[in-house]
Amino acid sequence: AKLLLLHGPNLNLLGTREPEIYGATTLAQINEAARLQCEAAGHQLQTLQSNSEAALIERIHTARDEGVDFIVINPAAFTHTSVALRDALAAVAIPFIELHLSNPHAREEFRRHSYFSDLARGVVCGFGAHSYTLALQAAIFQLDTTTK
Ligand code: DQA
Repeated sequence: AKLLLLHGPNLNLLGTREPEIYGATTLAQINEAARLQCEAAGHQLQTLQSNSEAALIERIHTARDEGVDFIVINPAAFTHTSVALRDALAAVAIPFIELHLSNPHAREEFRRHSYFSDLARGVVCGFGAHSYTLALQAAIFQLDTTTK
């Protein structure tokens, strides 16, 4: 199956960005581990990081045309702000998992609300780069066990 991994704003800075919160792993390392994890399970992975809401929305639209089966997304700060990104995921109706490196519930009050969680198949947060491994494992399990 086809999986798409999306990363929102500022995640291009992973490795140097507030490492006490987000860890030392770079985005390139996360993407490479994710690709290997999906390929080992017999699936294909595409990835995109963007600081632009529009680029992420357009990538989600294209995903439907490409027949992407599952999306794993860290919307980053757009988690707490973007009705437009939420609407894009609802519009294409591709199942998705929301993930975060940090645990937004243990941080500032404004991070407690997500525009995505109620539409997501599930949410993974709080495990640093391992959140990606766990979210992809869940996505692969969903693809392998749910009837589509
Ligand atoms: C984040 C949590 C968000 O609140 C924050 O804006 C981010 C990263 C995370 O992965 O922990 O940029 O999504």
